[in-house]
Amino acid sequence: MRAILMGPPGAGKGTQAEMLIEHFKIPHISTGDMFRAAIKERTPLGLKAKEYMDSGALVPDEVTIGIVADRLAQADCSNGFLLDGFPRTAAQADALAKILSDLNMCLDGVINIEVDDSILLERLTGRRVCKQCAATFHTVFNPPKIEGVCDKCGGELYQRSDDTLETAQNRLKVYNDQTEPLIAYYTEQGLLKRIQGEQEIGQVFRDVLDVLE
Ligand code: AP5
Ligand code: MG
Ligand code: ZN
Repeated sequence: MRAILMGPPGAGKGTQAEMLIEHFKIPHISTGDMFRAAIKERTPLGLKAKEYMDSGALVPDEVTIGIVADRLAQADCSNGFLLDGFPRTAAQADALAKILSDLNMCLDGVINIEVDDSILLERLTGRRVCKQCAATFHTVFNPPKIEGVCDKCGGELYQRSDDTLETAQNRLKVYNDQTEPLIAYYTEQGLLKRIQGEQEIGQVFRDVLDVLE
């Protein structure tokens, strides 16, 4: 399975990715998770990415495309992968097409998870993420069994620094300006699969499996 998960911030890409990679036994390639890991390790990439992420802006294309190209060339991607949060600009989509054609690969589908803006803000500001394994929870919609503790690994849960109301609003604006146009791009290629993302998490998952299988 070679697929892309698209959708606005808070649509449920990461939540669905956790289940899809188990199901298909493929690597999860989330540029946001890669940047957060780099920030945690204080690498030069992390320092650069942090400037942009803190305001809700996109990390520049040349940086982002390079890390995805390197990742897709690794051996574990040869049987498939799930991209989450990449591509996010027209330049990234064009670069991805070139990267995949150089690797002799093509995409099976692009999943677009659709959720209204009013719901997205509530999801983002209530999100909690595991410090150790990056599993995602929500204080109301998907609470952990013990408050503040990850169900999967027992790690501590935290709130992402870009999940404040102000930064989340800016991320939605950036999405609408720069990423939303990719819906038309992948529709023209016959790859786009639309998913109603306002249903409960398990139903969204079943709908995604239906369109991929
Ligand atoms: P990234 O980490 O990718 O953030 P995002 O796209 O803004 O998406 P999110 O991770 O916020 O949301 P999600 O769709 O994964 O939702 P989730 O499943 O967590 O990117 C962060 C930043 O990195 C960017 O702003 C940018 O700076 C940079 N970056 C990353 N990629 C880049 C790129 N390609 N180019 C340039 N810059 C890049 O769910 C959200 C919440 O809702 C959770 O609490 C969850 O429990 C809950 N929830 C999920 N599904 C449901 C449901 N069905 N019903 C109720 N609640 C639900
Ligand atoms: Mg995510
Ligand atoms: Zn965990």
